[in-house]
Amino acid sequence: MITLTINGKAHQLDVDPETPLLYVLRGELALNGAKFGCGVGQCGACAVIVDGTAVNSCVVPVGTLKGRRVVTVEGLGSTEKPGVLQQAFIDEQAAQCGYCIAGMIMRAQALLDQNPAPSDTEIRAHMQPNLCRCGTHVRILRGIRRASEALRHNAAPRREAGK
Ligand code: FES
Ligand code: FES
Repeated sequence: MITLTINGKAHQLDVDPETPLLYVLRGELALNGAKFGCGVGQCGACAVIVDGTAVNSCVVPVGTLKGRRVVTVEGLGSTEKPGVLQQAFIDEQAAQCGYCIAGMIMRAQALLDQNPAPSDTEIRAHMQPNLCRCGTHVRILRGIRRASEALRHNAAPRREAGK
């Protein structure tokens, strides 16, 4: 039995410790925001935040996550009440097909959590591992900048769902 803390909530799971976190999120917990893109850590569609760092959940065995805090895109907000970064992506219409967007948001959130006022160069460097086949990168970058401005002006900290 493995205990995983996801979006502030503990889950007891009877799974093989080698199972990738992505499979557990989607297959066991119905947290379907993170997507399966490549399955080998090369695209970022499955990105989540573990202890403040963006990781590709398709290559993280759940057995390595004991006592660690996992945040998924569902933990940033909801359809009814989007988080700051989620709202900024909506406002900038950053999604085309949307497949990459949850991973983009989670990688960007990890950056803003550590540095609420990143430069364009810092944003581009940080987002480099995440791919978008639709080519909406410019709008994604605008969304991150918009969220950064909103966070600085409102000083509104990110909240996990239920907190
Ligand atoms: S699906 Fe995980 S990095 Fe591509
Ligand atoms: S919006 Fe389609 S892959 Fe990025």
